[in-house]
Amino acid sequence: MTSCRICGGRLHEFGDFGTQPLSSGFLEPDYIGDEYFFRLALGVCASCSMVQLMEEVPRHLMFNGHYPYLSSGSSVMRKHFEQTAQHFLRTELTSPDAFAVELGCNDGIMLRALADAGVRHLGVEPSESVADIARRNGIRVTTEFFQESTATEIREAEGRPAQLVYAANTICHIPYVDSIFRGVDALLADDGVFVFEDPYLADIVDKTAYDQIYDEHFYFFSVTSVSAMAQRFGFELVKAERLPVHGGEVRYTIARQGRRTPDSSVAALLAEEKVRRLADLDTLNAFFRNVEKSRDDLVELLRQLKAEGRRVVGYGATAKSATVANYCGIGRELVSFVSDTTPNKQGRLTPGSHIPVRPRSAFENPYPDYALLFAWNHAEEIIAKEIRFREAGGKWILYVPHVQVV
Ligand code: TYD
Repeated sequence: MTSCRICGGRLHEFGDFGTQPLSSGFLEPDYIGDEYFFRLALGVCASCSMVQLMEEVPRHLMFNGHYPYLSSGSSVMRKHFEQTAQHFLRTELTSPDAFAVELGCNDGIMLRALADAGVRHLGVEPSESVADIARRNGIRVTTEFFQESTATEIREAEGRPAQLVYAANTICHIPYVDSIFRGVDALLADDGVFVFEDPYLADIVDKTAYDQIYDEHFYFFSVTSVSAMAQRFGFELVKAERLPVHGGEVRYTIARQGRRTPDSSVAALLAEEKVRRLADLDTLNAFFRNVEKSRDDLVELLRQLKAEGRRVVGYGATAKSATVANYCGIGRELVSFVSDTTPNKQGRLTPGSHIPVRPRSAFENPYPDYALLFAWNHAEEIIAKEIRFREAGGKWILYVPHVQVV
């Protein structure tokens, strides 16, 4: 692609990670055959400043009955979604006939709290594997991709509009935002809100968190680009809150144009992004130079540890780690296996890099010398609960915000 997926403006390419596999494409150990690869590269729109992938991966290859990721896989995230639900129950969902829709509800961790409070809800989740878990947990889910036609069907079937359309780590996955906004328009009550939270471009740049860049993350939102996107589709950004989860996100609250007064958070973050020239090509080129340095530092450290005969394993077979392993060329000769709690990843091989994924029990049996923390966004939680690893002399390798041993 050479033009912006949202506004048709000219895209300036600034970062190329080479060919990359599907980040959640974990392979059977006896897998033989071709893996899907695509060119992972970034561009920024000269017109609306949206940072986006240059190439789009067909959605059915990523989100299907094999999708392994579970939203409730971390205690911090479970708490985050519980608090999010309680916040909505106090603010947007107070009327007795309130109706809430979550796009990409995954295993239903947020909707569970709404269901417990007796609120009418619906999850729209295209990945059957996780939608089934939500359903088993008593959540109402439809297994579909959300788009304009889905929204119209829901609106008709429910016979009432939604006060809230919510999406966590979902909207940045969807290239066709025009259809999403038309769907929200069809579904949302006049005074309802569309709230979504996704990784924040400023955090990615500041922390050199290049592993946020992979097939599923099509857009890298900033307050400037989301504000322009909302306006383009007849909506208005009325609130922008920074969140600490997943390495730094922003929660965007969007209302129909003129329905709510934007609070000061929007102007404040717009001004901050302008002053620091967040979407300027110079800034983004400098970010990519930091990415290259981070890669070189990590590879050098791992090679040095190997030369010293140290045992290194990975911790967290994250989608993010697909970019790190494949961009840095890290295979099982440098990292012998990756420990992960997700049942559908265990016993398989990481995409592209083919490192075996083992259950958590393998991590302490025996402890390695070093653990490369691929799930760095959960560092606090993991380092605290794995205290015995450190007591046994183990050390963590982190690569965000820079390569270090702690
Ligand atoms: P996460 O960083 O949330 O997202 P992504 O896959 O989108 O990059 O993934 C965390 C992964 O780490 C997930 O596969 C579960 C795993 N994990 C553990 O193995 N142990 C843990 O204690 C935690 C918190 C996560």
